[in-house]
Amino acid sequence: MKKKLKIQNHSDVSPSRRSFLKTLWVILGIAAAGEFIAVIIAFLSRRKPESNSGKTGNILEAGHVDRFPLNSVTANIQGRFYLCRMSDGGFIALSSKCTHLGCTVPWNDKEKRFACPCHGSSFDIAGSVVTSPAPRPLDIYPVHIENNIVKVDTGMSIKRDKFIREQLVYAKKEKI
Ligand code: FES
Repeated sequence: MKKKLKIQNHSDVSPSRRSFLKTLWVILGIAAAGEFIAVIIAFLSRRKPESNSGKTGNILEAGHVDRFPLNSVTANIQGRFYLCRMSDGGFIALSSKCTHLGCTVPWNDKEKRFACPCHGSSFDIAGSVVTSPAPRPLDIYPVHIENNIVKVDTGMSIKRDKFIREQLVYAKKEKI
């Protein structure tokens, strides 16, 4: 008695399994393309000329100094920065862009940290790195205080290696 050998080929894969695999490949392809585009956008946005341009436009009025309590972080959506007021009254304007790959970093008031949702970097209220992979502190924008009105120049972000006290700006004491 002869036995027939059954040779399995691709046409033996059931249609539902084939369509599942096809869908899986499409999803993986879209995910890979999305990741690639995100990396390219982050790379290009990091290459924009910044502090060396000498441009001083885009000055935004953040408000009167009294609007900002000590130890506070106030988001400025329009300017894409955070205005932070330290416990000694000094102001610093931090870019909301993570120095790793440019994701927006939200402030977590409970933790008192900026926590990047992309790869886990975190920064303190002065923008210093608490958790890497961010390579340096958050960039800052020049702050000017005129007649107790805080103004931030968003046309000129400044990269820095570390936080130093000289980066803080104080309101002049009013004479009585
Ligand atoms: Fe990677 Fe923020 S973009 S940690």
